[in-house]
Amino acid sequence: MQPIADRIRVAVLFGGRSGEHDVSLVSARGVMAALDPDRFIVIPFPIGADGHWQHQRITPEPGANPGIDVVFPVLHGTFGEDGTMQGLLELADLPYVGAGVLASALCMDKAATKRMCAASGVPVVESVTGRSIAAPATLASQAEAAFGYPCFVKPANLGSSVGISKARDRAELLAAIDTAFGFDTSIIIERAVVGQELECAVLGNEEIAASVVGEIVPGKEFYDYEDKYLDGKAQTLIPARISDDDHATVRQLAVKTARALGVEGMARVDFFRETATGAIYLNEVNTIPGFTPISMYSKMWEASGLPYRDLLTKLVTLAIERHARRRSLRFSR
Ligand SMILES: Nc1ncnc2c1ncn2[C@@H]1O[C@H](COP(=O)(O)OP(=O)(O)O)[C@@H](O)[C@H]1O
Ligand SMILES: [Mg+2]
Repeated sequence: MQPIADRIRVAVLFGGRSGEHDVSLVSARGVMAALDPDRFIVIPFPIGADGHWQHQRITPEPGANPGIDVVFPVLHGTFGEDGTMQGLLELADLPYVGAGVLASALCMDKAATKRMCAASGVPVVESVTGRSIAAPATLASQAEAAFGYPCFVKPANLGSSVGISKARDRAELLAAIDTAFGFDTSIIIERAVVGQELECAVLGNEEIAASVVGEIVPGKEFYDYEDKYLDGKAQTLIPARISDDDHATVRQLAVKTARALGVEGMARVDFFRETATGAIYLNEVNTIPGFTPISMYSKMWEASGLPYRDLLTKLVTLAIERHARRRSLRFSR
């Protein structure tokens, strides 16, 4: 074991003011238990569901956090995965694991993600976006004209399927729009894709590697909150049941997506494969995916030959490298 003075002090942030608070606790437990004790000293930073830092806090000034070498935000959703925490860590001049401010914010917003990806040639499913000032009936008519039913309605900025519904007719669509606007001022309506749900893990800063592709088989009509965390009926398959060609395509698209959005460190990139056409569409990008040893992100790396502990070491190393590189840049002439 390395002497204490040579080990890297990793502040692990978890909990937080997000609908995914509890998921974060489970993810953080996994990370803290598996970070290599020979290299790292773990410092837990629990954040309450009210946003209160429970033991100690990070100060937004360079040099003001001498006890921390690198930060591992294991926070899902709002105020953790959306660029806000990343902004604090930039101000504090601390290295941190995962995507930076812009990429985090872009990936949290499903409408912004799709616009950026479409502009870079990553296929995305047809959609209509709306802000709460738009009349629900107008939005519904736009969606009907663009693709019709069934369709999915989602708040632009949430996760864990919260606020998402499938609509089969106009009455359901209007109700779904109302529900989604209860969670965000911006929503997205998409054509429903009938097919497989695929996931691919990416890892790296300038050079981005893609994992083996995995598949989610929802236990219900779609992969909703109960299915993700409560029912335990959803199945995960690694590798996904797709051809070698599709496998290669998904991995390429995952890297292309990460580059289009400027993702650094890690992300789980989710796709659909439409059965009728064979088309592959980007669905969404999670910059702080579920992170237990049995979460898809880590399992896909495990299946690609990178065990959980080594994955964590790699992520911390990438954080430190990015920080060192950015430090060498000038901010004025
Ligand atoms: N356009 C779509 N076509 C088919 N199923 C969809 C579509 N959009 C979402 N879903 C279903 O809803 C689930 C949650 O949607 P997703 O966009 O991944 O949001 P979240 O960020 O909450 O995971 C998906 O895993 C899938 O089962
Ligand atoms: Mg999802």
